[in-house]
Amino acid sequence: YLSAGEASGMQVATPAAAGAATKLTIIYGTESGNSEKLADLSAKEAKKRGFQAAVKNVSDLTPTDLAKFDHLLVIVSTWGDGDPPESATSFHKEFLNASQDLSKVKYSVCALGDTSYEKFCQTGKDFDLRLEALGAERVFARQDCDVDYEEAHRTWLDGALSAFGPAKSAVPASEGSGVFGFAPLASAAAYGKKNPFNAELTERVLLNGTGTTKETWHYELSLQGSGLSYEPGDALGVVPQNAPDVVEALLKAAKLNGAETVEIKDVGSKTLTDALREDLDVTALSRPVLTKLQELTKSKKLAALLADDAKDKLRDYLWGRWIVDALIDFAPKKGITAQDLVTLLRKLPPRLYSIASSLLAHPDEVHLTVASVRYQAHGLPRKGVASTYLADLVKQGDRVGVYTHENKNFRLPASGDTPIIMVGPGTGVAPFRAFTEHRGELGHQGKSWLFFGDQRYTYDFLYQMEWQDHLKSGALNKLDVAFSRDQPEKVYVQHRMLERSKDLWAWLQEGAHFYVCGDASRMAHDVNEALLTVVEKQGGKSREAAEAYLEELKKTKRYQRDVY
Ligand code: 2AM
Repeated sequence: YLSAGEASGMQVATPAAAGAATKLTIIYGTESGNSEKLADLSAKEAKKRGFQAAVKNVSDLTPTDLAKFDHLLVIVSTWGDGDPPESATSFHKEFLNASQDLSKVKYSVCALGDTSYEKFCQTGKDFDLRLEALGAERVFARQDCDVDYEEAHRTWLDGALSAFGPAKSAVPASEGSGVFGFAPLASAAAYGKKNPFNAELTERVLLNGTGTTKETWHYELSLQGSGLSYEPGDALGVVPQNAPDVVEALLKAAKLNGAETVEIKDVGSKTLTDALREDLDVTALSRPVLTKLQELTKSKKLAALLADDAKDKLRDYLWGRWIVDALIDFAPKKGITAQDLVTLLRKLPPRLYSIASSLLAHPDEVHLTVASVRYQAHGLPRKGVASTYLADLVKQGDRVGVYTHENKNFRLPASGDTPIIMVGPGTGVAPFRAFTEHRGELGHQGKSWLFFGDQRYTYDFLYQMEWQDHLKSGALNKLDVAFSRDQPEKVYVQHRMLERSKDLWAWLQEGAHFYVCGDASRMAHDVNEALLTVVEKQGGKSREAAEAYLEELKKTKRYQRDVY
């Protein structure tokens, strides 16, 4: 027979040798797709080194499957408050209670996370400790990666694969063997996180009326000439810059003037001010930042705050504070050097926003719905980096660095006839604007139902005219709104859902897909509870049976969430 290897002119081993190849399983748990991408990349590299590598999503596994894998790599991200990705929740829960013998398994974990969250890389830690507790052998230390994860992952993979020892290879590694080289990611998409497309801001509209505390902007960006495209449900990565006043305050606290030349990894040398504006995260305070500051300053006060038995004190300190606060509190009187300041700071992470438009309705454009984050903490006005970059620093006609980010876990049904139920309070409505436009353009006949909520009808009914037009044209069939602050008691989308229990259940029985987008900390949980109640009451099910019903909806992709 002609094997694939022969066909491509490679040297091929005998079938006997093929049977003895070292098998490697790479499992991932992913929310926005980063862990999945890294798992695929890891498999590619492992194959180059002679492993017979397979990639699996933990959502398709149960913990008992793990005993079958003798060489195991785990790549998993943490979401929000130390939670596993949506698709990994049931595996995670079962695994923490699992008791099988994993003593034949050799493994290493790569954890993705964000140091600006307290429970940094918690899910990766959970997996690592549970594997160890069940007898598996950790051959290479867990790598906890911050948002700029590429290099950390590469280092981890190199170490972990080497720790497995030389692979017995079915197909001897061909070109590139011995050289550690990834295929450049840029070949897949011309623009990405590291090389964004500079898109012109063509339109900006304040969606709230005057007289409200809310500030929600509609932004339109031109993708003309980029070749970029996206599907409804996808996100747009925005590469922000820091605000001049925030940078000034940091320079002042460090006793620097900003004209100093500094060296930035992967960027080169530039003035400190430019680096602080464009490249570095100058606000997000975290344990790693404080640890570096402590090493630099040898502050005893700071050492006490970072002690193992001071976790609560550290949490209190971090709450609402920025890096500038820590410099004021702990930096030496004479200040620190420019390069020292640079080493304290991580790269400025881009931000992902759910896309609010359909390309069919707006060719070559991408629209966003962004609430400006502004608040007071510890006596100072504070603001979100990317939301206020767009609101305060980018004028119409200016350019913004962007890239598209696929979200396979938030997709319209394959058939245009399938009914959809969309729950999107506040800026959570963004992808549903895209869904509704898309179905409208395609003339799809499937019914659609939107639950929208915000604070006040008069000021905060985002895209009100558009929804009314969609209702008229039939692109949208049902709209229920909850304005939380128009009456003494709070009325939220989940209350409206409960009022509409009967219809909701009928739609679900007809095969409707159920989508939720928006606040993860409370809304998504409360909406899930309401949905459970609907299934329990209307479906005549026990709580357990209702939970199983929703699990099944998730498995079959009929219940999808995009929460942040
Ligand atoms: P509130 O700010 O008046 O509490 C969009 O931000 C809308 O979501 C607002 O009306 C907000 O109400 C509401 N919201 C806040 N918490 C919520 C929750 N747990 N469930 C649903 N909606 C919520």
